[in-house]
Amino acid sequence: MANLTPFPELSYRHNELFLEEVSLSQLAKLYGTPLYVYSYSALVKAFSEFQNAFKERDTLICYAVKANGNLSLLRELAALGAGFDIVSAGELRRVIEAGGDAKKVVFSGVGKSQEEIKYALEVGIFCFNIESEEELFRINQCAQDLIKKAPISFRVNPDVDPKTHPYISTGLKNSKFGVPFSTAIDLYRKANQLSHVLIQGIDCHIGSQITELSPFIEALERILGLIAQLKELGISISHLDLGGGIGITYKDESTIALNDYANELLKRLHHFPGKLIFEPGRRIVGNSGLLLTKVEYLKESPDHRFAIVDAAMNDLVRPSLYDAWHEVVEVTQPSSIPSRPLDIVGPVCETGDILATNRYLMAQSNDLLAILSTGAYGSSMSSNYNARPKAAEVLVYNKDHYLIGRRESFTELTQRELTDFFNQTSLTKNKLI
Ligand code: LLP
Repeated sequence: MANLTPFPELSYRHNELFLEEVSLSQLAKLYGTPLYVYSYSALVKAFSEFQNAFKERDTLICYAVKANGNLSLLRELAALGAGFDIVSAGELRRVIEAGGDAKKVVFSGVGKSQEEIKYALEVGIFCFNIESEEELFRINQCAQDLIKKAPISFRVNPDVDPKTHPYISTGLKNSKFGVPFSTAIDLYRKANQLSHVLIQGIDCHIGSQITELSPFIEALERILGLIAQLKELGISISHLDLGGGIGITYKDESTIALNDYANELLKRLHHFPGKLIFEPGRRIVGNSGLLLTKVEYLKESPDHRFAIVDAAMNDLVRPSLYDAWHEVVEVTQPSSIPSRPLDIVGPVCETGDILATNRYLMAQSNDLLAILSTGAYGSSMSSNYNARPKAAEVLVYNKDHYLIGRRESFTELTQRELTDFFNQTSLTKNKLI
């Protein structure tokens, strides 16, 4: 029997799966599949829980747009007071288009281009999280060109093991992210000499899907040590950004309670009076969303059973990429459990197009399945591989449902491509953007 505990908004009613007060079968009929479905109540609850845990301090929760950048979700989060952590000009455009406040944006990422830096300076973001010495000089130069001062932090790599999947660990010393701990002071000194940057803060982000408190505490303690050293040099830090990374329950992992997280951090922050920034992504949207898919075929061989569904690795790449585990449940609750497990796979022509393995599900063709915990890094990591249009997205709230992302059309799939290339003028040929 599926464990629905991490998803309080999901329940079976007369054997039919509902998200809030909305029947998922009904949604599949109305919008088709594959379909991402998000719970507005779960989203608000997750964000408010974060906000409340830190309410005694001046705190800005900068939701990590990469987890799910759907404009409606961004708009709702902005309305709740969220700031945003972005890693590209594209994400910044999304925030602005959704009505988010540029002054509440922090810009992370190791490869910010000049165009991206200038765009962020023009809209007036809150802070750049600098990830290398060269980036410092580039930002200074861009700000000088625009006759502005760039607000900056360094993303310091505290060399802490977050005890998570190696692909999503970012705070170890050989990672491409952040500046080495040992060089941080020197970089702040250099920044202090530059005319067009303003030192504002210090930042770290050690990884994602972290389920233990100790790595966060260790990272904080290391960062506080740096803040003290900087103070001695006369460099004051007005905000401390601890990044994101708090995990969620996908299967049976016990996760960090936000109040414990806040208590453990806050008791170490008495001597730091500045603003606190967090960059959660997964914890806000991960368990607010599911991917609804229809079984196309059941394929059985003497020693294997496959349910081939209409969602694939292009819709949800986490299982293929990280071997990630997502709970899968039947939308119509079956009365029995099959004797043999099956693998749930998509139509994409890759052996790795696997959504889940070894599941005891009564899936028959045309049955609907819900792949849970897919609100984060689901839709945002989707692609068009095998010329598959991106799935539609729906938000439910109480009894209501709203389309927040149309299913991509076949026209949209090809519209940026040009077939009359022999007739192009040299002007078009050279025009890159
Ligand atoms: N801040 C920075 C600088 C980040 O790089 C990330 C995530 C976050 C915040 C948000 O982390 P979260 O709170 O969501 O853990 N695609 C992977 C996750 C990659 C995370 C990348 N950075 C996955 O599907 O598990």
